[in-house]
Amino acid sequence: MTVASPASLYSDLDVEWTLDAPLAPHTWYGVGGRADVLIRPRSLEALTTLVRRCRRDDVPLRVLGSGANLLVDDEGVDGVVVKLDMPFFKAVEWNVDGRVERLRAFGGAAMEQLVQQCARRGVRGLEQMSGIPASVGGAIRMNAGGKFGAIGDAVDAVAVLGLDGEVRVYPREEIHFGYRHTSIPHGIIVWASFRVAEDDPIACRERVLEIFAYKKSTQPMGAASAGCMFRNPTMPDGKVESAGRLIDLAGMKGTRVGAAIVSPRHGNFLAFDKEWNIGTDEGSAGASSVASRTDDMRRLVEMVQDAVRAKFGVELETEVVFWRRGERP
Ligand code: EPU
Repeated sequence: MTVASPASLYSDLDVEWTLDAPLAPHTWYGVGGRADVLIRPRSLEALTTLVRRCRRDDVPLRVLGSGANLLVDDEGVDGVVVKLDMPFFKAVEWNVDGRVERLRAFGGAAMEQLVQQCARRGVRGLEQMSGIPASVGGAIRMNAGGKFGAIGDAVDAVAVLGLDGEVRVYPREEIHFGYRHTSIPHGIIVWASFRVAEDDPIACRERVLEIFAYKKSTQPMGAASAGCMFRNPTMPDGKVESAGRLIDLAGMKGTRVGAAIVSPRHGNFLAFDKEWNIGTDEGSAGASSVASRTDDMRRLVEMVQDAVRAKFGVELETEVVFWRRGERP
């Protein structure tokens, strides 16, 4: 069902909006269609009113984080897309209540910058997030992380704007943080506070660089990908296995569908080849016009899932979120 998003939802609010807004520039993959309307609220009040109205009128509302874990359908998406990139939603507060060990970041703040700022100030606690592109809200929502820990390890409390338009604060004790999962109810993450500690800035910086170097040496960080495509599955023996390793062992590295390719470096990175379509017969004849790139990736995802299922009997679930027109967010 396609739902129109009338201007009366947002035109009187303290927001900026763009009709028929291209979403590709907002995602790491850099592909996909348009949003019927992209709205950037300047205040919590504007966001709250918008959320209430969308619920009242049954208009789908999606939140765009840093676009690091998102693949938008070629047809774009209906309803309202919200981006929290105005100053209010990117704020970071140090020494909350006069205490060095309390840090608060709003949902639209960039994780990469936060990690760098912590290192510079000699604040320890978030270095496990080094090299993970995300907004604070997006990272918390999926408990992003890696070999060195996840964001949940450092969370003190999370404020969530519920779909009913009410903001609730959940203390850490009430939240379950699991592998790429949290028990935080549906809604928009407005801010999170973190438990951090003072440390030597040089030691902090070294740790951040060490983690970043590990990632850089094992992953294709420059490619047009969204990090890992699949969650690491639990094997029949109960152990969590690297999806990248399974994809590698299934012989899928380097497999290509049009513009989409399994990284030859790390099997869980499914990237778009930026050079594809430029000056090669195969490229220009292939199914890889810009308009069909998301389809290429979807087909590649299925091929990888089929190969891993056939070899190991395990189902790979995507970690990347797919947005489709007509689908309820
Ligand atoms: N391996 C292979 N072949 C591959 C990929 C990996 O043999 O193609 C082996 C590696 O050599 C290593 C083991 O598998 O022995 C684990 O690899 P890695 O350390 O890269 O960890 P991962 O489980 O594949 C996870 C996260 C990454 C995170 C890394 C490092 C998931 C789905 N992935 O990958 O996160 O960067 O640990 O901390 O949890 C992401 O979430 O987007 C992401 C990339």
